[in-house]
Amino acid sequence: MKGYAMNFKKALLIACSLFLVVSLSKAQDYEYIGAAKCKMCHNKAPKGSQYDTWKAGPHAKAFETLATAEAKKYSANPQTDAKCLACHSTYHSADEDLMYTIKAEEGVSCESCHGPGSKYKSMAIMKSQEKSLAAGLILPEEAVCKKCHNEKSPTFKGFNYAEYTAKIAHDDPTTE
Ligand code: HEC
Ligand code: HEC
Ligand code: HEC
Ligand code: HEC
Repeated sequence: MKGYAMNFKKALLIACSLFLVVSLSKAQDYEYIGAAKCKMCHNKAPKGSQYDTWKAGPHAKAFETLATAEAKKYSANPQTDAKCLACHSTYHSADEDLMYTIKAEEGVSCESCHGPGSKYKSMAIMKSQEKSLAAGLILPEEAVCKKCHNEKSPTFKGFNYAEYTAKIAHDDPTTE
């Protein structure tokens, strides 16, 4: 009986600390806000219209691509196949709890390359590169692309970083 009470107390203690750890880590998690939120500040022509460039490029269409006849060659139902979604959809590629205002249809969205934006999206933070990086912003390099551009893609065509980056360039001409 005594042993049982001890174990119960111990179990309760462990459960409580686990709960604390889980809730603390949740509070610090970066969440996905979706491209529409970035658009508010990143779609001005003199600064490079990043949103429109992305929207017209291959990544914004990555989820739609899974509905094509071509896609059905590789999976019976690609738009619900976790294997395909892992690379074709930002929304479906990470923990569902982290999906805040991002939409499933966005395909490969800003945050797959730049990191989830919930903590860096405010003007006060974004204005400072240092603060943005500390709040989860990523300035992507080759390794980020290669998470998806690799042999696991059933249609892999090879990947040349310089060439591929040029194809999706959305530079801001006012910054260096
Ligand atoms: C409230 C306005 C605002 C929002 C919302 C916003 N940004 Fe920014 N962002 C800025 C400002 C201001 C800068 C600083 C550079 C500049 O003046 O354009 C910046 C810079 C950046 C940079 C360049 C960082 C560097 O140092 O080279 C990236 C990348 C970026 N933002 C991505 C995003 C993404 C992705 C989102 C959405 C998840 C987003 N931003 C949302 C205002 C914003
Ligand atoms: C989350 C996965 C993912 C990441 C990360 C990613 N891509 Fe892609 N990329 C895709 C998918 C999926 C497609 C195919 C889209 C389609 O055709 O529907 C694609 C297509 C492209 C294309 C068009 C290729 C063609 O055949 O015309 C270019 C260029 C490209 N990506 C460049 C990049 C670069 C550069 C990076 C890194 C800075 C990058 N991608 C990061 C998933 C990703
Ligand atoms: C496939 C990956 C990828 C996606 C998707 C993507 N970006 Fe980028 N972005 C990059 C790369 C690579 C750079 C260049 C990084 C560098 O210069 O260090 C960049 C640079 C930027 C910059 C800095 C431009 C400059 O010259 O200062 C901004 C702002 C930005 N992205 C915003 C966005 C926004 C907003 C979206 C979505 C609407 C988006 N990006 C989608 C890969 C991506
Ligand atoms: C490891 C990441 C990854 C996985 C997993 C993946 N894709 Fe892709 N997919 C890509 C990339 C990157 C591209 C751009 C072309 C390439 O492969 O270089 C692409 C392009 C495509 C295209 C366009 C082909 C073209 O020639 O433009 C189709 C269709 C496609 N994928 C279907 C699927 C289906 C269906 C699945 C699931 C069975 C799947 N993909 C799984 C990354 C992936």
